[in-house]
Amino acid sequence: MPAPTGGKCETRLGSLWQRFFRLRHVPKSARSRDTPNPLRRVLGAPELIALGVGGIIGAGIYVLTGAVASQHAGPAVCLSFVLSGSSCALAALCYAELASMIPAAGSAYVYAYATMGEAMAWTIGWSLVLEYLFTVGLVSIGWSGYFSSLLRDIGILLPPEWTAPYGTHLVQLPGQGWVIATGELAQWLRGHGVHMEDLPQASGWVNVPAVAIVLSLSALLVLGIRESATLNTAIVLFKTGALLCFVAAAFRYLTTHPEVWHQNWDPFVPPNRGEFGQFGWSGVLRGAGMIFFAYLGFDVVSTAGQEAKNPQRDLPIGILGSLSLCTILYVLVAIALTGAVHYSRLAVPDPIAVGVEAIGARWLAPVVKLGAISGISSVILVFLLGQSRIFWAMAEDGLLPPHLARIHPRFQTPYVATVVSGVAGALLGAFCPILVLNELVSIGTLFAFILVCLGVLILRHTQPELPRPFRVPWVPWLPLAGVGICFLQMVSLPARAWARLILWLILGWALYLGYGIHRSKACQELPAPSPKSASPGA
Ligand code: ALA
Repeated sequence: MPAPTGGKCETRLGSLWQRFFRLRHVPKSARSRDTPNPLRRVLGAPELIALGVGGIIGAGIYVLTGAVASQHAGPAVCLSFVLSGSSCALAALCYAELASMIPAAGSAYVYAYATMGEAMAWTIGWSLVLEYLFTVGLVSIGWSGYFSSLLRDIGILLPPEWTAPYGTHLVQLPGQGWVIATGELAQWLRGHGVHMEDLPQASGWVNVPAVAIVLSLSALLVLGIRESATLNTAIVLFKTGALLCFVAAAFRYLTTHPEVWHQNWDPFVPPNRGEFGQFGWSGVLRGAGMIFFAYLGFDVVSTAGQEAKNPQRDLPIGILGSLSLCTILYVLVAIALTGAVHYSRLAVPDPIAVGVEAIGARWLAPVVKLGAISGISSVILVFLLGQSRIFWAMAEDGLLPPHLARIHPRFQTPYVATVVSGVAGALLGAFCPILVLNELVSIGTLFAFILVCLGVLILRHTQPELPRPFRVPWVPWLPLAGVGICFLQMVSLPARAWARLILWLILGWALYLGYGIHRSKACQELPAPSPKSASPGA
């Protein structure tokens, strides 16, 4: 057993390997509802489902649906949604089993600490930063786009330099707002007899709306989990209501104009254009990979384990309930949208608004825009919540500086971790290009999902006797299928994304070896237990 030396553990090389595989008991406060808990237990099953839906419905359905339908799957985008939802369900089932066994704040990081050891836990925790923090940055850019366009509708024009990351080349399209100048755009303009060089140009400096929304929502999270959950539930009702109104209005229109539906859905799977992923069945598959982002967020429910009233029962309900509801809603929206508008017209940043226009329901246009803005706000809120709880759990374990574990005496929230997450998310939204964030989010999330599926298999083997209020069926096949599908999706990402993931992990490991490994509480308090003796539920 390593001896603590003045708050630091010895770092003799001989014990380094032991430390990498050291398991950590789950904090008592997470294991029993009767033990004092630093966080406030106020979330029931409805709030947890709302938390999941709040994290899931956002930029994905409001923006990506159009891109996938117009460039990859055509009307069969609804099948891409079914496929992607089913593959997420595999990871969601594994999350549900682990969350019901180990209902601590910190999600996959805590599960890994109890099953695979400290080094793997650190690696997952560090990868989850890619998912949670970088999603905050990514969707705050989408929020800024919708917000600027809403302001433009009411005659307020924000300076373009303040709505894009530093160095972004912007161009003003006639009759529209400022958009990012790309090679494809220049080509498209040339096809219409316009030279991009002749249009007004600007260079981005900082995305001010993105910074403002992230910092405001961080402040709300500091003020209290109950207040944040209430706002989230209100937004969830509004954004799902907006999508349901669109679906109802579109179906009403299509039943009175069946010829529109027939024209738009013929062919349902457009023929392949000679390249993998460009329509045909390969396009449906590629679409499923792209639409994966629209489902992210169900796993955030598992970070609220220490704020749930009855975590063993309600976390699985929250995770699986939110994913099922969103899958049904997404498929309905995709059917309604591609029925109302030909898929080739959906290559726009606001496809649902185009759908609203096509069915002649003008009254719905502001509702949909507000649904998008409020919906993306709740994604930011929920992902910030998840990130702060992960930082908090890692600091509680000594792997990050202890300030991050501070709880506000009045609001009972991890306020330092929340402020740090907010400032970091705001900086990403302000200065980072959207494509870089997108790739990092996808690869980091898939990596974390793989490790969660493996965690279920490892725990079933090492601690079969532990009570599991929720059990994944058909083990090992379902978790193995989850690992396989996530790995295939990782492989389909560009080499650039892998290089960035590897760089991110090297940075993380430098931090771990320079700080966490010496300060870890597992190192100071516990003998290195064998996998059999470490009991998450003990
Ligand atoms: N699923 C979330 C969204 O679509 C991340 O915005």
